[in-house]
Amino acid sequence: MKTVRVNASSSYDVIIGKGILDSLGEKLQSAVGACRLCLVTDDVVDSLYSKKATASLEAAGYSYEKFVIANGEASKNTANLIALLEFLAEKRFTRKDCIIALGGGVVGDLAGFAAGVFLRGIRFVQVPTTLLAAVDSSVGGKTAVDLVAGKNLAGVFHQPSLVLCDVSTLDTLEPRIFSDGCAEVIKYAVINDRPMFDRLGCGIKNNVEEIIADCVTHKAEIVAKDEFDNGCRQLLNLGHTVGHAIELCSNLKISHGSAVAIGTVLVTKMAVALGICPEEDLYLIEDMLKTEGLPTRCDFSAEELAALATADKKRSGDTITLIVPYGIGNCKPLKISVNELVSYIKKGL
Ligand code: GLY
Repeated sequence: MKTVRVNASSSYDVIIGKGILDSLGEKLQSAVGACRLCLVTDDVVDSLYSKKATASLEAAGYSYEKFVIANGEASKNTANLIALLEFLAEKRFTRKDCIIALGGGVVGDLAGFAAGVFLRGIRFVQVPTTLLAAVDSSVGGKTAVDLVAGKNLAGVFHQPSLVLCDVSTLDTLEPRIFSDGCAEVIKYAVINDRPMFDRLGCGIKNNVEEIIADCVTHKAEIVAKDEFDNGCRQLLNLGHTVGHAIELCSNLKISHGSAVAIGTVLVTKMAVALGICPEEDLYLIEDMLKTEGLPTRCDFSAEELAALATADKKRSGDTITLIVPYGIGNCKPLKISVNELVSYIKKGL
């Protein structure tokens, strides 16, 4: 078992280990103490892991309510957010109480947002059950729902009180969902850790507990420096600005991880064309993503992608910031004008 401490506006542990869902109730006793709990999950995770989670909560003396959404990105919407808030109010949850987000990024983002705004903020705990949520979305306090105009356009920063990651839950993931998380793992290595990139060559699945701890350690360092995403945290958006546009162009048929993989290759190819990144690194990144079962190209035009990328949160006035690799382990922000975006994307297609 490994524990990584996140020091943000509030500090908390990320506990990573095999079979630790059984100890959820016990870990909550020290992280949040006595309170009522609302377990938020999706229908797929509910059938797999709610029983184990709630048995542990009951053994530790907790009472709980359960709120279940449909599995999938389409559930990360304002209707479900309002339904969850109404549920919390109807069940008379108070400021002392706590939400448990048991599931992937959709559950974590939605439940975290509800925790951030219900009664102006109650506590919540992340229990990620996908690789993507384990290495990225469960840590750092970004919460959100999607709006019609774009992904994650409404949300709050709200740090969890604890993240408990049972790596055994990854065993039941469909290969394509595991691959989605691999895109985020590879992202951390490309951003600032070439030795980690080299280690990933042994296969992410083969060493997953250690790899999750490495990613979370990187994220904790970044969040400690820039919790509110005004500086170095933006590096974590590698592949995401174009990636979000790819997800939207595909009507969410292309998953987040696949879109990030394509977006990462696109900005790396762009960096090679600009003469700032060695071509060899592009091939290494592309090969690593393919080995982990991810796509690296899409058929959308630069015009289609630019139109949707400009709705992204990373736009500021007439400029947009892309995160660009100068080589594996060395990424930097590149601020360009919105008008130039089409020609930049063309370089990466
Ligand atoms: N997922 C990017 C971040 O947490 O900043």
